[in-house]
Amino acid sequence: MAKGTILVVGSGGREHALAWSLARSPEAGQVFVAPGNAGTAVPPKVENVPLRADDLAGLRDFALARQVDITVVGPEAPLAAGIVDAFQSAGLRCFGPTQAAAQIESSKAFAKSLMVEAGVPTAHHVTFTDFAAARDYVHRQGGRVVVKASGLAAGKGVTVCSSVGEAEEALHAALVQRAFGEAGETVVIEERLAGPELSLLGFSDGRTLIPLLTARDHKAAYDGDQGPNTGGMGAVSPVPGVGDVERLADLALRPIIAALAQRGTPYIGVLYAGLMLTRDGPRVLEYNCRLGDPEAQAILPLLETDLLGLLDDCLAGTLDRVRLGWREDAAATVVLASGGYPGAYRTGFPIRGLEAAGALSDVLVFHAGTKRQGDGVVTAGGRVLNVTACGATLPNALARAYEGVGCISFEGMHYRRDIGHSVAHSTVSDFTA
Ligand code: AMP
Ligand code: GLY
Repeated sequence: MAKGTILVVGSGGREHALAWSLARSPEAGQVFVAPGNAGTAVPPKVENVPLRADDLAGLRDFALARQVDITVVGPEAPLAAGIVDAFQSAGLRCFGPTQAAAQIESSKAFAKSLMVEAGVPTAHHVTFTDFAAARDYVHRQGGRVVVKASGLAAGKGVTVCSSVGEAEEALHAALVQRAFGEAGETVVIEERLAGPELSLLGFSDGRTLIPLLTARDHKAAYDGDQGPNTGGMGAVSPVPGVGDVERLADLALRPIIAALAQRGTPYIGVLYAGLMLTRDGPRVLEYNCRLGDPEAQAILPLLETDLLGLLDDCLAGTLDRVRLGWREDAAATVVLASGGYPGAYRTGFPIRGLEAAGALSDVLVFHAGTKRQGDGVVTAGGRVLNVTACGATLPNALARAYEGVGCISFEGMHYRRDIGHSVAHSTVSDFTA
């Protein structure tokens, strides 16, 4: 049998990690990445295709023309736009949830009502479309609330508030000024919880869900969790001392899979729960309908099971026969970002030291915002590179990753120096759910 042709949709570090992992599969034939980045093009086996992740018709036509056996979608936007439905209608296999199931991420109001229906513990919440009603509500609650635009707002639609004034401002921005467009026409106001956060992801075939190793993302731009929120400045996996991952999956992931199957819109793909481990137990803050970025860059290098086979089992509905194998190691990913990110930044700066970093043993450099220019590679986005390392312990993995970081430079480069610090130096009881 001919080896399968694979298409990975997206251009970030997560998609580089996916393409890297899939290309290692003994069953993998040609791997295409659309549009990919400078790191994903590793000819002849892995090639970039100049199609944007939101060009659903173009991607479908490409998959038909090149007889792509399986398409894997990295980012949420094409999933929310119905890429899986479009591929299915054309008789193509596409890994990810349908548009109906992807609402778990594209509509926080949908996710909240599903959590209540499925009995998943989450923050108390109320949904509003009217500014005056929402303002009255926060006046009654006091200011310790979280205001969230219901729709997709590229990670910018959430305001964690400490005062009534802050909450009112966030409500005004979303409901009156329409700062998030349609995504903010409905807002969810939640009670503000406290505790360490945890990313819990699992593969689902619509009925069976298998959790992955846990991970911790670092969303704030600067050390000590200071500064504005970003797409993620680094991640570590697994997170020690969080208790039994199967129990967490029973609490946070499996009830959602069951509820969506019950509704007739089964969830096939990766389901990602953002958890907060509060004094009263774990609470789900949000769901994502895909692998996390940068969590995937830390989790996938530890996966020993063939990823392509795993995707096949999800699409065939045979996940119940799978047991995942993992390296007995820890992994850490440090994001190298452009100066100014997550605000305005300039691009086009030459990147030095990529080869030296990649030559270190157990170090992988996953590209994000990069592109080829002449013989070199230049910056082309906010998050530029993900330096990932595995090690026998988390401190080993972190030391290795920062050794890799030390090899690389570009103008304006900034990164956090404390990735994994809180995880490596906490006691088990801090995290026990
Ligand atoms: P979300 O996009 O819903 O995950 O929210 C982004 C970030 O806001 C989370 O990673 C948390 O740090 C914070 N957050 C969201 N919801 C809450 C909450 N109910 N209480 C405290 N912090 C929250
Ligand atoms: N790391 C957070 C996310 O992928 O949404």
